[in-house]
Amino acid sequence: MSQAFDVVVIGAGPGGYIAAIRAAQLGFKVACIDEWKNATGGPAPGGTCTNVGCIPSKALLQSSEHFDHANHHFAEHGISASSVKMDVSKMLGRKDTVVKQNNDGILYLFKKNKISFFHGRGSFTKAVEGGYEIQVTGAKEELITGKQIVVATGSNARALPGAPFDEETVLSNDGALRVGAVPKKLVLIGSGVIGLEMGSVWRRLGADVTILEGLPTFLGAVDEQIAKEAKKAFDKQGLKIELGVKVGEVKTGKKGVSVAYTNAKGEALTLDADKLIVSIGRVPNTIGLNAEAVGLQLDERGAIVVDAECRTSLKGVWAVGDVVRGPMLAHKAEEEGVAVAERIAGQHGHVNFNTIPWVIYTSPEIAWVGRTEQQLKADGVKYKAGTFPFLANGRARALGDTTGMVKFLADAATDEILGVHIVGPQASELISESVVAMEFKASAEDIARICHAHPSLSEATKEAALAVDKRTLNF
Ligand code: FAD
Ligand code: NAI
Repeated sequence: MSQAFDVVVIGAGPGGYIAAIRAAQLGFKVACIDEWKNATGGPAPGGTCTNVGCIPSKALLQSSEHFDHANHHFAEHGISASSVKMDVSKMLGRKDTVVKQNNDGILYLFKKNKISFFHGRGSFTKAVEGGYEIQVTGAKEELITGKQIVVATGSNARALPGAPFDEETVLSNDGALRVGAVPKKLVLIGSGVIGLEMGSVWRRLGADVTILEGLPTFLGAVDEQIAKEAKKAFDKQGLKIELGVKVGEVKTGKKGVSVAYTNAKGEALTLDADKLIVSIGRVPNTIGLNAEAVGLQLDERGAIVVDAECRTSLKGVWAVGDVVRGPMLAHKAEEEGVAVAERIAGQHGHVNFNTIPWVIYTSPEIAWVGRTEQQLKADGVKYKAGTFPFLANGRARALGDTTGMVKFLADAATDEILGVHIVGPQASELISESVVAMEFKASAEDIARICHAHPSLSEATKEAALAVDKRTLNF
């Protein structure tokens, strides 16, 4: 007899494990299946985010930033730190420990919430009376049934045609997070989020880094003024970014890799490097799900087709996170997971796509919520803009990090905040205030009238809100 559950979640990334926890909180009998294995073959729940994404990349960004500070910024504080060395294997070991803490944390949460965890691959076999049968293929094979199924199978790195990932020389995000020694020369293809974050890590550690980007504009989805400011900072750091290139043949050999490309001027060039990281986006993952067994509809990109509320083409089957439309972000996956569990319980779960924040964890950090100036222009919306530079913020001066600005965009007639864009120190933390403000439909004047602690970086947010009405106090 197969074990029967109210809710079966396939995938324990941020979309899946959060959906499972919320469903358990709501009183359902829940199973969660995940196939990710750690180095010893044991379970490693947390998905891309925990194992080869958000968490390990931020661990390496932190370590490499400390190294960069010790080399380049301690002296300003009167600290002499000569012969600073980086032990790459220790840095990677620390990253692995952080990952394991997160894996273990999720296993603990499953126990705490009485969720049955199955380590293995979950595949649809057939529809059964009042639900679906799922086969779990792991150390042993089991059949379980669920009245409601939540698919949260995530995404995989997109490979460049003709240059498959070998994770030795041609690296996806997975290999990029476990390079055992600092490469002398590193090429990345794609100057999106991963390209900039991973490029920053290895540049800070001493690699000569070039990023080849196909589009002629840098960070096209980011507010132009903010992207320009960020680009200036990256240029100064020595992160080489070539825009408008067309990548040609990639050849690997004993000595590394050579990448042929045509630059924006039409010149044919070749770059030789020790390693190549390909970061040209991700593709939804339904490998092994056996979606066709039950007729689950996919779109031309391979994403599971869902409506605005994450309902798939099949009654009782839901899908969340990277495997469906929308931004591929962990917090978006989590919010969808919570909303789906609540909908299964007959509640009105809701995800506000207009207030999902984005963060790029480079130095300076880039963070935003809402629409950019170019989007507002394209939408024909009349707006007022206000900016405030960190150069005029006391806390930023004390930190020794005055790059960048906060930018507010508000409706010209109603003053409602339409977008907030930050490039600078701690942008990832600062953006939350603006997310809350937009969620509550606040005006720029509301933020301008709130008391912000002094000295704090958040005063730059208040000042940018004041700038919308041309009345900054410190600039
Ligand atoms: P995933 O996290 O991909 O999890 C899917 C899980 O399902 C995996 O564990 C997989 O093994 C399992 N699975 C798949 N198929 C099956 C099956 N048939 N049976 C059983 N198990 C299965 N986002 C942010 O918001 N902030 C960041 O800072 C950030 N940094 C990133 C850095 C990198 C390098 C990368 C690659 C991504 C980053 N992301 C970040 C994106 C983020 O990781 C994803 O948006 C997020 O992990 C998506 O969550 P998910 O639950 O949809 O899928
Ligand atoms: P991306 O979509 O952010 O960037 C891909 C870049 O590659 C784009 O600029 C694109 O124009 C370029 N590109 C595509 N094909 C190309 C080609 N053939 N030649 C040259 N350039 C090409 O994708 P990325 O960086 O791979 O990351 C995937 C996703 O993971 C992100 O979109 C994001 O959703 C998520 N992520 C989020 C992070 C965060 O929130 N801090 C960090 C890392 C990843």
